[in-house]
Order: sequence, then C-alpha cells, then structure tokens
Amino acid sequence: MPRSTVARIDTDAIRHNYRLACRRAGAARAMAVIKADGYGHGIARVARALAEDAPCYAVASLEEALAVRNEGLTQPVVLLQGTHQRDDVEVCAREGFQPVLHSDYQLTWLQEASEKPSYWLKVNTGMNRIGFAPESLATRVDALMAVPVFASTLQGFMTHFACADDASSPETEEQTRRFEAAVAPWPDLQRSVGNSAAHFLPGQALFDWSRPGIMLYGASPVLAQTGPELGLQAAMTLEAPLIATRWLKTGDCVGYGGTWVADRDTRMGIVAVGYGDGYPRHAGTDTPAAVGGKRIRLIGRVSMDMLAVDLSAAPDAQEGDAVELWGGQVSVDEVASHAGTIGYELLTGVTARVPRLYR
Ligand SMILES: Cc1ncc(COP(=O)(O)O)c(C=O)c1O
Repeated sequence: MPRSTVARIDTDAIRHNYRLACRRAGAARAMAVIKADGYGHGIARVARALAEDAPCYAVASLEEALAVRNEGLTQPVVLLQGTHQRDDVEVCAREGFQPVLHSDYQLTWLQEASEKPSYWLKVNTGMNRIGFAPESLATRVDALMAVPVFASTLQGFMTHFACADDASSPETEEQTRRFEAAVAPWPDLQRSVGNSAAHFLPGQALFDWSRPGIMLYGASPVLAQTGPELGLQAAMTLEAPLIATRWLKTGDCVGYGGTWVADRDTRMGIVAVGYGDGYPRHAGTDTPAAVGGKRIRLIGRVSMDMLAVDLSAAPDAQEGDAVELWGGQVSVDEVASHAGTIGYELLTGVTARVPRLYR
C-alpha cells in the first residue's frame, strides 16, 4: 500500500483561475505560465487542463517547453529566459517555441542559427535581473529590423515587474512608463508586462499579453491577501494521515528540541508529512491545518516525515483521518506566512515522493 500522503490536484480549479485571469486581463490575452513543473502541479497535466483555453504557454527552460510538446499540444511556448545553449535556437524554430532574448550572446546565436524561431526581446525596466537597457534597445532593434528574417520573426517586447504585489509601490507605474517609452518606436509589435499580481492592480495596462503564473494555482500574488480572498480556487490540497494520537499531560513537551510544552492536558496527533515532503520546517507552532472540517494548529518542530498537531479543536479526529496541510480549507498563503515564505515556494517545493493525484 502506498503512503497516503498526497497532493490532490484539481484541474477544474486551474481552469477557473485561468478564466479569472483572462477576465482581469481585459483585451490582453493570457499566456499560461507553467514553469517549475506547473508550479509543482505537474507541467503535462496543467498544460493539458488549459489546452482548450490558453492560446500560449510560458516556461523557463527548453525541457519544460518540450514537455508541453510531448503532450501533443501545438500552441506557441514562450521561453522566458530565452535559449540557454546555442543549439536550442534551432530546436525553438522547429518546435514553435519563442525565446525571450535578453542578452547579446543570445542575439549572436539567433543570427548564426540556420533556422530562425519567432522571438521576443526582454527590456530591463528596473527589475535588474535580465533584459536590455531601454536606452540600448533601439540599436539592437534597428539592426534586427534591417534583416527581413529577423524583422518578420520579432514578436515584440516583454518586461517584468519587481513590486506588482504591492499596490502602494510607485515602482510598477514607473516601470510601465519606462517600458512604454522604450518600445514606442515599434507600435506594431506586441507588448507584455504583467505577472499575476498585475492583474489585480487597478488601472494597470496589460497591453497585448499578460503572463499569469501563481494565480493559476490559486495562491495569492498579492501582499496581505490570500488566494480565496481574490476569488481564486486552491488547485493543490496537500493531505496526510493522522498516524498517532496521544494525551499529553501539562508540562509534557513535543518533538525535537522539546520546544513546545503543554500548558494543560492536551490531545495531540502525529501527521505523516514533514520537510522531506516539502512541508516547510519553519512553519512553527500555531500554523493552521484542518481535519474533519475543523481547523487545528501545529505544535513544536516539523520533522522530516512527521509533524505534531493540537487536536483540541477537533476532538473527534482519529488515527487514519486525512489532515489538510493546505488546500481549500487552509490557504497555502496562510501556511507560507507562518513559515516566513511565499506560496510559490511551498507549491513548487512539494517533493517527488508525494504522489500527485488528479481529479
Ligand atoms: C518573466 C515572468 N513572467 C511571468 C511570471 C509569472 O509570475 P507570477 O507567478 O507571479 O504570476 C514569471 C514568474 O516568475 C516570470 O519570471
């Protein structure tokens, strides 16, 4: 019998969230960002779930793009970091992948390739990760436009926001302004700026293509709000069984380091999940979980394969019951904030030993 610690994936929720992204994107089309194994949900299954809806996918690497093609899906796949190897350029051309080129060495590879893919240019408007400086863009584009094959395959321009999760930050408006100014000379080419968070910024221009990632999976892209508060549905439920229960007496301590001490007699449970499954070790006492429809809390330290919960709020809970670590009852955003991290890290960090079960 396999261990019943599982990640249940609800592909209907992914479709619901994608459609919400489309509504919020207005006239822009949404390329579904499914990198990092579909943010931990399984890239092939996520791509298939969105096959009828998404006109385009976006990934980080050639391997991820090939995983989409292996499903028989024919939509363009955008490679957000461009090509990592010289030979990848021709693979892109053959497979219909669109690299987002951010550096001169990638332009050289493009020029030298025997087959040319459609491509985008990345503009660095303030994130300072990758991309051409706005003031250096015209030289590159003019040189490309002078050669018919590079002029006809240039799709457009992309930039990425650093602070879109924070509606009070002036940075997104500033980046948008820099981007618009930088690409203004080529009004016929496409423009793409917005990650998930940008879909929730009032009045934010998303131009031709938005790029929703985390919101497709139901986690929040926005500071201090959970996915459900934004109308998103959790796509992953991380679930594990209660494998032991016991009564602790006042003064008994729990787990490694004995960091949690019972201040009254307490019924506790042990859940078969830990940091070996990707549950964050930094989620401490009071991190929420749920059993039998009741919210309970973690106590003590998370170990590799187990963690402890206080069952006071769920007196009927028994060995064998399924505990939700995150999902529809406990948002991954809440767990992440208790662990000092973000939902992105938790969803992508669920380890390979946790089977993904699809609904
Ligand atoms: C260039 C680019 N666009 C879009 C996204 C999607 O971002 P999010 O998951 O915040 O929606 C990412 C994710 O890191 C990205 O790197």
